[in-house]
Amino acid sequence: MTQTNIFDAKTPLPDAPLSAREKTLLGFDGRYRKIHDQLRLLLNLGELGAWSKAKHHKNLQLCDLVAEQYPLVIFYGDVGTGKTATAECIANRLARESRTEDAQLFRLSNRVRGSGKVGEMGTLLTQAFHEVVQAAGKSRRAFLIIDEGDSLAASRSQEHSHHEDKVAVNTLIQGVDDLRRFGGRVVVFLCTNRLSVLDAALQRRAAIVEEFIRPDDAERQALLAMDLDGVGLTDKEIKELVAATGPRGKQPGWTFSDIRTRLYPAALAHAFPDRALTHKDLLDVANSLRPSPVMEDK
Ligand SMILES: Nc1ncnc2c1ncn2[C@@H]1O[C@H](COP(=O)(O)OP(=O)(O)O)[C@@H](O)[C@H]1O
Ligand SMILES: [Mg+2]
Repeated sequence: MTQTNIFDAKTPLPDAPLSAREKTLLGFDGRYRKIHDQLRLLLNLGELGAWSKAKHHKNLQLCDLVAEQYPLVIFYGDVGTGKTATAECIANRLARESRTEDAQLFRLSNRVRGSGKVGEMGTLLTQAFHEVVQAAGKSRRAFLIIDEGDSLAASRSQEHSHHEDKVAVNTLIQGVDDLRRFGGRVVVFLCTNRLSVLDAALQRRAAIVEEFIRPDDAERQALLAMDLDGVGLTDKEIKELVAATGPRGKQPGWTFSDIRTRLYPAALAHAFPDRALTHKDLLDVANSLRPSPVMEDK
């Protein structure tokens, strides 16, 4: 119904490409299990009353307290550590495993920031929440991913915070508050590079706050072994790449996306189209490119 396309993506879930993608994310299963266990109550708030009656023969007050949880999950950490990919795949898996087949994933675009016209950002955000709520209707599920959340949800107390930004944060908070009436059928994932700039009221509302960090040696080794399968590298050669992409002095280790979207293409470009990809191609790039910088968080 809206003219402005405020969503980068609207995907009916479950989605086959997302189901395939989760298999390429290292450590996804463990992360999913952890978040799923924490989310299970939130996702089934509607059934809590029935559970209470069945198991305790009355409505426990405890259930009302738990029902006040907000359906907000915050993922934070450096660029390229997997926040967006994980949020999408978790939403997809939740939809797949919940018996309601009817779910939709919305990814909010940065265009929601608008063109700077007074009141525009708040209006676009209101529209976005409206559309998500419509999609959830009376019985369906909806997931909203707010990417690069720091640009929308930065603290209202920051000195350079403009009136416009404050309106946006208020709208966001109101939107999340309103979603509680869905009893867990609508969940918001907010991804941010810096947790410390997020408005305190939003942080307080989050049912889950999960940090994403750069891969350690073992994870980079597993990633390289998985991704470079078939290239014909020896274990020793993989280990050399693990070392070359690790932290050195003041320089941090490479992120998942540094390795996948910078190392591989650059190395491949050396070899393609005339010869096979070699260990040296990869090592040369690892030694000459720098990993993306660490986000100052505080
Ligand atoms: N756990 C992971 N295992 C393997 N690759 C990953 C993982 N997390 C992220 N990546 C890779 O890094 C890329 C960037 O991830 P993304 O979710 O966009 O990071 P962020 O949102 O934190 O900036 C992904 O497309 C994916 O290829
Ligand atoms: Mg992202």
